[in-house]
Amino acid sequence: VLSGNDKTNVKNVFAKIGGHAEEYGGETLERMFVTYPQTKTYFPHFDLAHGSAQVKAHGKKVACALVEAVNHIDDIAGALSKLSDLHAQKLRVDPVNFKLLGQCFLVVVAIHHPSLLTPEVHASLDKFLCAVGSVLTAKYR
Ligand code: HEM
Repeated sequence: VLSGNDKTNVKNVFAKIGGHAEEYGGETLERMFVTYPQTKTYFPHFDLAHGSAQVKAHGKKVACALVEAVNHIDDIAGALSKLSDLHAQKLRVDPVNFKLLGQCFLVVVAIHHPSLLTPEVHASLDKFLCAVGSVLTAKYR
């Protein structure tokens, strides 16, 4: 459960990221595909080469969903309800992959904003990404 402090920390991170969110989404995906190649199996229809426009476009969608979750941080399940249906019922992404994507997002934030990610903020962001992953994998049965 996200504490009030976690919510504040997460909102601050996204405020600092601002307009870079879309770009970070693409970097996150690229990092995930390189570091955890098994995640590529969900994207057989994508061009996954370095600099792929498809990956960038998809990164933008993922980032927008994260921003949506931050904007509705007290009701992430409601905000991401449709995405939850999609990932559970249609895409059937194994839940472990959400942890991998979350880790990659944390690393991307750390690279761009090293001073932002104090241990406390890191922990809050990790909790938030886990919460998003839980929502997107909540409807598997
Ligand atoms: C599609 C968000 C995690 C695989 C999408 C879409 C969004 C999204 C916004 C587009 C939905 C649409 O077009 O209506 C997220 C978020 C995640 C997450 C916020 C976690 C923070 C994952 C993971 C995988 C995955 C871990 C697999 C490794 C896919 C696939 C699609 C998709 C295969 C369909 C791509 C296409 O054909 O266009 N996701 N996703 N997602 N996601 Fe996720």
